[in-house]
Amino acid sequence: MNILLVGSGGREHALAWKIAASPLVRRLVAAPGNPGMAAQCELRDVAATDVAGLVALAREIAADLVVIGPESAVAAGLADAAQAAGFACFGPTAQAGQLESSKAFTKAFCDRYGLPTSAYAVCGDAAAAKAALDRFEPPYVIKADGLAAGKGVVIAPDRAEAEAAIDDAFGGRFGAAGARVVIEEFLEGEIGSLFALCDGKTSMLFGWAQDHKRAFDGDRGPNTGGMGTYSPAPVFTPAVVEQTRERLAEPAFAGIAADGAPYRGVLFVELMATAAGPKLVEFNVRFGDPECQVLMLRLESDLVPYLVACATGRLAGMPPPAWRDDAAVCVVMAAQGYPDKPRSGGEIRGADADFGPDVAVFHAGTKADEAGILRAFGGRVLNVCARAPTLREARDKAYAAVDAIDFPDGFCRRDIGWRALG
Ligand code: GLY
Repeated sequence: MNILLVGSGGREHALAWKIAASPLVRRLVAAPGNPGMAAQCELRDVAATDVAGLVALAREIAADLVVIGPESAVAAGLADAAQAAGFACFGPTAQAGQLESSKAFTKAFCDRYGLPTSAYAVCGDAAAAKAALDRFEPPYVIKADGLAAGKGVVIAPDRAEAEAAIDDAFGGRFGAAGARVVIEEFLEGEIGSLFALCDGKTSMLFGWAQDHKRAFDGDRGPNTGGMGTYSPAPVFTPAVVEQTRERLAEPAFAGIAADGAPYRGVLFVELMATAAGPKLVEFNVRFGDPECQVLMLRLESDLVPYLVACATGRLAGMPPPAWRDDAAVCVVMAAQGYPDKPRSGGEIRGADADFGPDVAVFHAGTKADEAGILRAFGGRVLNVCARAPTLREARDKAYAAVDAIDFPDGFCRRDIGWRALG
């Protein structure tokens, strides 16, 4: 098969690593990809939102499958255009993609189809948003309505910070994504990321993990796109998995199909495991980043048949995926200043060392300069991942690799997996 993989982050590097290991693959092309992905793919410099350019590339390489990594490509309508041009595509249409691209849409969707989530208010200007705070207790959760790369959420401990966050959002901090703001009830509980595949009709669970959203150890600092993950995570008891499937994932697939937009791809259910059961924090219409990295390390089955089955309506014929018994950990190395002002250009040495078969270093935001020196180019720069029979061993292996990489301008959290390991 010839596969076009769209995206350039750590998630896409992990997907490339797993797809390239499939005996079904003849040619794997990534657009635009990143320097680390050159080990698994041909790289072509077409942006993830250049829909016409990507369809032309799919034609040029006679792609049997287009795999969409990031939400920006979903929102740009890549699946719609690829399908219209006759390509099998793993990734939902832009209409189904509203489950991520508009938090206001998703809240109304939850009301319409009875999915459990927090109380909320959608506000179109700062005065309305500040008035809406009266209906909530601190800490206040303030979210930009649109796509903000995981950085559009502020948890404000008091009213003054909440009002400042509202002024920031309407002052243009998130661009068009902040034209509306959603204020939400703060949910008490433990957070988790569960993944489910769907081919438009049939759905199937596809793993779970726990992320660390705050920038610094001890869950302090600003919210980020995710600073590290581990899987399996104890928050996912059999009851939480089953209730999340039954109350959130399956009703979402049924609801979006009833809306006329059958879902083909992976749905990421970010949930809060509360005393009253799992409640939706948000949906994402793609694999999580860096959740995908630990899932790919643990996935024993060939990934490609699942991607094809979702794209072609054949998931009903597939067995549940097989997972290794190993635990996996991913530590994100970010550029100093992330998430607000990441410092670009820092030199990185040693990322391509051979750390053994159970360690993978996925590139997320890197670029090679003219002299061939690898440099930071973005907020989250490297994802250092390891697997081992126990979570503690996996974490030790991941941090040993982190410590062997020379990235003076970088930082990472040192407590990934703390809820399981202390
Ligand atoms: N790790 C959270 C996300 O991918 O949005």
